[in-house]
Amino acid sequence: MSRFKVVVTRNIGPDALGIIRACNDIDMVLWNHDERPEREWVLRNAQGAHGFLVLMSDKVNDELLDAAGPQLRVVSTMSVGFEHCDLRALAKRDLLLGHTPDVLTDAVADIGVMLALMASRNAGQGHKIVLDGQWPKMVWAPFTLCGPQISTLSGAGRRTVGFVGFGRIAQATLKRLVPFGFQSCLYAGSKRQNQDANRERDVELGSQLGIVIERVDLEEVAKASDVVFLLCPGGEETHHLVSESFLRKMKRTAVLVNVSRGTVVDSNALAKALKEEWIWGAGLDVVEGEPDIGQDHPLVKEPRAVVIPHMGSGTHETRTEMAKLAAMNVVNGIYGRPLLAGVDV
Ligand code: DGY
Repeated sequence: MSRFKVVVTRNIGPDALGIIRACNDIDMVLWNHDERPEREWVLRNAQGAHGFLVLMSDKVNDELLDAAGPQLRVVSTMSVGFEHCDLRALAKRDLLLGHTPDVLTDAVADIGVMLALMASRNAGQGHKIVLDGQWPKMVWAPFTLCGPQISTLSGAGRRTVGFVGFGRIAQATLKRLVPFGFQSCLYAGSKRQNQDANRERDVELGSQLGIVIERVDLEEVAKASDVVFLLCPGGEETHHLVSESFLRKMKRTAVLVNVSRGTVVDSNALAKALKEEWIWGAGLDVVEGEPDIGQDHPLVKEPRAVVIPHMGSGTHETRTEMAKLAAMNVVNGIYGRPLLAGVDV
């Protein structure tokens, strides 16, 4: 009986590891830690592998695929995003790529709403006051630490939510926001999408939720929205979509939330927009150049930016489901079965 080899580059938890261990003909080489393995470890162990299970901080490129050899069948990433995987390198070797969409939709939508609320209501500054022991000295004046209200339930006026990218996570975010009283939803999407199908979906979703959903250009999203959520994939096509010119068009009371990829936002332009008060605030789960984002980073220094370290999918339930899906993808790929969630490479 032939045996297979899979390399797993992190401790992905007992449930997911159990899926691989249950396959008697698969030998697993496991980096059983939370820290990323040295590249040298990955390349050495790649030799003869039929499958890899990686995270988004592991680069999947020619170097790794060559190190593995021609028997390699599948790469499975425990993430929905796959910017760390060189699709051309995978395609020219006819390799499968698995990822983990859907299971993280709710967790990421939740954290997006959390960031919108935190950024609009100055939660970052408020928390810092308490951590720094400054609360006793704080003057509780009528307008201390006030911010724009997201909810319109007490008659705060019309609210529009804008999305850059309107896939599963954006739609789940919208569902959470409708009870806050948002009356309209604008989004900008990729030109490659089937616009007729999307129009039908928008009408149906809009009538389900009781909100008008409209596809517009990027400029209109910037101009008309009270909160803008970035929920598009990373990569060249979306690099710095949020530029100085986008930010200058936004409302002064608006909040920008990024739960997609840091590369979508020009960090220097955003820091300037916050400093010069072109916009109200920003809630950022991702920042270009992460994880090398120190205290001196221009966005970390901005009081109106709430920056958290890429935690969008970080619930016990979601990470367990992502790990299990990634494990099933790698096992299926090794056995030549269809992946549960594959990327077109
Ligand atoms: C992903 O899966 O791509 C997220 O950014 C991390 O969970």
